[in-house]
Amino acid sequence: MKDHFTMDSPQPRLLDETKQGVIGTPMDRPEGPLKVSGTAGYTADHVPDGMAHGVLVRATVARGSVKAIDRVAAMAIEGVIDVITDPRMIRNPAQGMAGEAPVQPGDAVHYHGQPIALVVAETFEAARDAAQRLSVQYTTEDAATSPDTTPETETADPETAGDFDAAWNSAEVRVDREYTTPSQVSAAMEPHAAIADWTGNSVTLRSALQMVRFNKAELADSLGIDPSQVRILAPYVGGGFGSKLGIGPEAVAAAIASQKLGRPVRVVMTRQTVFDSVLRRSETAQRVRLGATRNGRLTAISHDDRVSNLDGESFAEPVSQASQFLYGADGLSFTQTVARIAATPAGSVRAPGEAVGMLALESAMDELADALGIDPLTLRLDNLADTHPMDGRPYSARRLADCLTEGAQRFGWADRWQAGTRREGDWLIGMGMASAARSSSLVKSAARVRLTGDRAIVETDMTDIGTGTYAILTQIAAEMLGLPTAQVEVRLGDSDLPGASGSGGSFGANSAGSATFLAAQKIRAQIAERLGCAEDALSLQDGRARGDNHEAALADLVTEELLAEVTIEAGDTAESHFSSGFGAHFAEVAVNEWTGETRVRRMLGVMAMGRVLNEKTARSQALGGMIWGIGAALTEDMQNDARDGHVVTRDLANYHIPAHADVPGDMQVVFLEERDDWANPIQTKGIGELGISGAGAAVLNAIAHATGHRLYDFPALPDRVLSTMGA
Ligand code: MOS
Repeated sequence: MKDHFTMDSPQPRLLDETKQGVIGTPMDRPEGPLKVSGTAGYTADHVPDGMAHGVLVRATVARGSVKAIDRVAAMAIEGVIDVITDPRMIRNPAQGMAGEAPVQPGDAVHYHGQPIALVVAETFEAARDAAQRLSVQYTTEDAATSPDTTPETETADPETAGDFDAAWNSAEVRVDREYTTPSQVSAAMEPHAAIADWTGNSVTLRSALQMVRFNKAELADSLGIDPSQVRILAPYVGGGFGSKLGIGPEAVAAAIASQKLGRPVRVVMTRQTVFDSVLRRSETAQRVRLGATRNGRLTAISHDDRVSNLDGESFAEPVSQASQFLYGADGLSFTQTVARIAATPAGSVRAPGEAVGMLALESAMDELADALGIDPLTLRLDNLADTHPMDGRPYSARRLADCLTEGAQRFGWADRWQAGTRREGDWLIGMGMASAARSSSLVKSAARVRLTGDRAIVETDMTDIGTGTYAILTQIAAEMLGLPTAQVEVRLGDSDLPGASGSGGSFGANSAGSATFLAAQKIRAQIAERLGCAEDALSLQDGRARGDNHEAALADLVTEELLAEVTIEAGDTAESHFSSGFGAHFAEVAVNEWTGETRVRRMLGVMAMGRVLNEKTARSQALGGMIWGIGAALTEDMQNDARDGHVVTRDLANYHIPAHADVPGDMQVVFLEERDDWANPIQTKGIGELGISGAGAAVLNAIAHATGHRLYDFPALPDRVLSTMGA
């Protein structure tokens, strides 16, 4: 039985009525024991019989073409099987939800690090050795590798509401600042990996991917075959953060090699290749203008930005996204410029837009508060928009004011002192805060639920990239069917299963979770019918069904399999209401007066993001995001060599993310109770990206409060902090 559901109106809050009591609980991940014992099969853990090893060869020029490849020295190495070039190989991973092949450049080279060939050998070592000895001749062209020097820029028409110029010109108090942020990378724990294996006309691909339904279409299109000839398996994925949204060069190359050689081929990227050839977050240059009345009412908001990408990439970091819906004003204006450069292509990295845009917006809000002589918390509370400032839609559910006040109270904000006046020895102490916001959505998703006796199986091609999908789908099915969670099995990451949203944009739990909920609801109807009771009288708990004076054990009642598959799609509510997670971040820092070093001493995030499905995995998402915020504020700084654009900081020794010692022991997350009735039938919003959105700004505002000086080029590296203090 296949059903379709469109989200056109609020649905009953059934998960508040069901009896099993597992929704929202901090249940451990069901696959946790497999992961900690090393028996969860991540892509590269698989070694099919006869497998060969592929290593990607990457371009060493910024722009030009491959003229010739001298294979002789490479082929002479023992165990080397082939050096493969093929016009179907792709330049870079597909952008999220592309569903079609990325650019296939043929001989052309568009950036330093672009995959241009695959060396295949009997061992990884032989393949790597051969890849290094391969002699490649290029014809080269001049190319700009920096957005500051490229002549190729595209500026979009401004997005506006009201009359920004009039509001700006008549503002009584103004802040007009330019900010920069560097490129950043995801660098997921599990490097990108793929194993391709052809049988007849069909290829099976194991790969570290976030969106199996889309990836299947992308691989098929890249290879020029029908999607029915492709099966993708991604049951365990070690982090993605956007870097695994689309099919990658390693997967397409592995598939080409496996077909040519008639045996399975595995391609695993090194960490350096991940930095060079996987989508980065664009560097940004941002200008924020805020105008206000003297008593602190925002009248004008403008956020203009410049980002970069390769030619032919449609993705542009949506820098001003949160600035368009967070605060109200009489006039708003947003203009984006994309600079075309020859450097590692840009794409989605955790909370595209908000993650870097809010660093600037929320810094500017603090500066405006200073200029007005108003508490930064008060300025935000006084300027929350009544409806979406750009299109007038009501917010679906928004507890931003509650998050701000609750956070302030818990953090001790009222005790804040005057900027630059507190020290402990050589350390200057400061407190900062920022709003958090990350829009939320529902993406078409299907799931199948099967119940036999008192055991249920959930099946969908949805992925678990470390976020907790196995846990929450287990909880939803167990709750709906009245089963202990141990009696529910969740099967994910197989393109033969019903197609879901995949993991991206914080919409995975909303989407695949709702499909699972709806399929389980169909099963409930079937159980009610068997029991002889009305569906709304049915009560399911611990494997027993009750209703209308009937009672039975599911083990007796469901003697043959009950099955339901439901596809959910966004509908009218996505048009009528605007859904976003909201929150507030608070940070306390100590800044060393002599070295400029910043230590984060404590951090608090208060968030409202609809119904919490699993308190533990949701908290982990929020904490992980906040730690990324520390990294964005203090250390993350991807650098390219100006001469040829090659990535200089291409491993985790040179690209600095927060280590344990950089993260305070006092990291708190508080979730405020919320239901988003307009979002989906389980009343949830996304949580994967809300934690990072605004978190770094709270740290940066705390630094300004500690030192009494602001900086505008992020991250707040020690030398930059020192220079603001006149050192
Ligand atoms: Mo996300 S940056 O859509 O994984």
